[in-house]
This record gives sequence, C-alpha cells and structure tokens, in this order.
Amino acid sequence: MATIRFSNVAKSFDNGKVTVIPDLSLEIADKEFVVLVGPSGCGKSTTLRMIAGLEDISSGELYINDKLVNNIPPKDRDIAMVFQSYALYPHMTVYKNMAFALKLKKTPKKEIEEKVMWAAKILDIEPYLNRKPRALSGGQRQRVALGRAMVRNPEVFLLDEPLSNLDAKLRTEMRAQITTLHRKLQTTFVYVTHDQTEAMTMADRIVVMEKGEIRQFDTPQKLYNEPADMFVAGFIGSPQMNFIDARIVSEKGKLKVVFSGCSFAVPKNKSAVLEKYIDKDIILGIRPEHFLSRDEGDVSDKCKMNVVAEISEMMGSETNIYFDLSGKRHIARIKTERKIGAGESTELFIDPETAYFFDKETTKNTFAVG
Ligand SMILES: Nc1ncnc2c1ncn2[C@@H]1O[C@H](COP(=O)(O)OP(=O)(O)OP(=O)(O)O)[C@@H](O)[C@H]1O
Ligand SMILES: [Mg+2]
Repeated sequence: MATIRFSNVAKSFDNGKVTVIPDLSLEIADKEFVVLVGPSGCGKSTTLRMIAGLEDISSGELYINDKLVNNIPPKDRDIAMVFQSYALYPHMTVYKNMAFALKLKKTPKKEIEEKVMWAAKILDIEPYLNRKPRALSGGQRQRVALGRAMVRNPEVFLLDEPLSNLDAKLRTEMRAQITTLHRKLQTTFVYVTHDQTEAMTMADRIVVMEKGEIRQFDTPQKLYNEPADMFVAGFIGSPQMNFIDARIVSEKGKLKVVFSGCSFAVPKNKSAVLEKYIDKDIILGIRPEHFLSRDEGDVSDKCKMNVVAEISEMMGSETNIYFDLSGKRHIARIKTERKIGAGESTELFIDPETAYFFDKETTKNTFAVG
C-alpha cells in the first residue's frame, strides 16, 4: 500500500530566487489513480520529481505511507518512474532492458525471468523480447518502458506524459492499457499530462494546477459539473467552455441574466446565490455541448439566441458552430439534421439549468463563493 502526502511543500530553484511551487498540500490515497494537469510550466513534472526524490524539497514535508521522505534517496523510495522519452537502453534487448534494474539489485536469475515474463505477458510484448528498442514501434517501446517499471513491483508508479510521443490512435489505445494496468496492479499511480482528455478518462481524481498552485482536486465528474473557477472550467472540457459577459437584473422580483440582447430567468436553485449580483456584471459560462438546436426535442422553455454561423464544422453526429457575441468568438456543438453553411443565421438554445455563473472579480464559480 502507498499513500502520498504533501504538507505545505515549497520548491524553488536558483538558491530560492525562482519559486515554482509556493505552498502545496495534497493527499493521494492508496491505490488511487491521480492525474496532475495544467498548462506548460505549471509545476507538474517538478511535483512528480519531488515524489520520486529526483528533486529536493525546499520546505515543508513529503510523506509516503506516513513516513517522512524528504531526505530519503530515490532508490530507497520503492517508486518507479516512466518518462515521455521512454529512456530505454538502445544497445540492450527488450528483455535486458526490463531485467536491468533487477539485475543491479542482484535478484536471482530465475526470479528475474519470472518477473519479466509476467510483465511481458500483461503488456503483450512477449514476441519482442529479443529485439532492440529501435526495431519497435512507439507504442511497443512505451510498453517496454512500462514493463521496466512493473518488474520492480513498486508501491508507486509515476508517469510523466508517457503518451505524448504517440499518434492519436495509439494514445487512445495506450490510455486504456494503462488504466487496465492500474486495475491489475492495484498500486498508486500518479500521472502527469497536459491533455485534459487523458486526465478525464484515466483519473480517479484530477489535480488541476496553475502556476504551482492547486486550483481544484476532485473527481473528473465533479470538475466538469462544479468547476471551482474559470480556470478549471476552461481547462476541463473540450471544446472549451464559452465565457459570456452578462448582467444580473431583477424584474418584478425575479432574477434574470441578460447578455448580448438575450435573457433568461435564473434557475431557482441559483437565485439565492445570485441575489447579491443584482445590477452587477458577471460571467456566464456555457459549455459548447450544452447549446441546443431546434432539432433536439422541445425547446419551448429554453433561451433562444439568433446567431450567424461564422464557421460551421460538420463532425459526423454533431456540428460545431462558431459565432460572435459582442465581438467575442464562441462555439456551440449541436446535433442537427440540416447542414448549416458559413454565414448562415441559425437559432441556438440555452437550457438555463446548464448555465454557470462566475464572479467577474474573483473568477470563482458563484456556487463556490461563500
Ligand atoms: N532546474 C531548474 N531550474 C530553474 N527552473 C526550473 C528548473 N526545473 C524547472 N524549472 C521551472 O519550473 C517551472 C515548472 O516546471 P515543470 O517542468 O514542473 O513544468 P510542467 O508543468 O511539467 O510543464 P510541461 O507541461 O511543459 O512539462 C517552469 O517554469 C520551469 O522553467
Ligand atoms: Mg513536465
């Protein structure tokens, strides 16, 4: 079993001149699959490397299984790390690559063989054991890198963008393989990516990071349904959530949200929170997939907008419509039987129940504002 706990951990480089992680507290449960996501440079790899012991900790405490590991060297941490670059030894066969760490530990030959064969079977790379890495495809190399980590039977798997060198199809395949692997091995996985789809599909819980800070740590479902702020809302979901300048007004005692010549009644469960925004600007958030077309059932109680489709992308079962509102580009993903041409005006509908409301000053979801 392995739990990981950061307690007020800070990390700086260049003798404290550059602070990359100001104050990180995070608890990862045993057997959990946790994904760290965030834009380039936000500190994902640094966080992972601190768990591995490849990066020292400037202040605070890091615990693995409630044991303080700040000063424990990487080799004594019972952790295996898989990198984006695979880092296989080019002159060694697949078998030798996988056996290498065990050989260094002077593991008996028989045991090495058993472990390598066990990993090769799970990863479906048995036919390639005598090949050199250069004679393998990207996906096969990636599996060897995973196998090399598996044979060590670590308590914790750390994976840093392991799929970013693969093409889209292989990435999808490997995604499923890694989640299956996690289920089979029943160990703690910490996985770094900047791909929100990977995060959403693989994680038990996701850490959304920005500038070395945790914006939100929760299940994929929760992040999608209840993003804490505009950063998380914009990061989770694809295409990105639309942010529309809007205003809350009170009409005959009822709250309405008004934007770009449209308006709708604020749903009952959000009225209490939005009371304090009467006659104030807010940011209305609408996910592209929450827009509706007239072809999608009864739209009589929905908020109707007339827009001009600047670009229309037919995606098969769905169509992406790009349109402008008050000079800002937005995107709707609708199901429609008709082909909508560029420049054509069309109706879009919003279900008020699917709308998000963000505080313009703090960018926080008004639901989360106390
Ligand atoms: N050895 C170092 N010395 C100084 N700054 C560093 C060092 N290593 C990393 N940094 C800085 O720390 C910040 C976080 O880097 P990190 O590699 O953790 O980002 P990341 O989230 O993994 O990004 P990416 O998605 O691009 O891999 C960056 O601004 C980076 O320039
Ligand atoms: Mg990185």
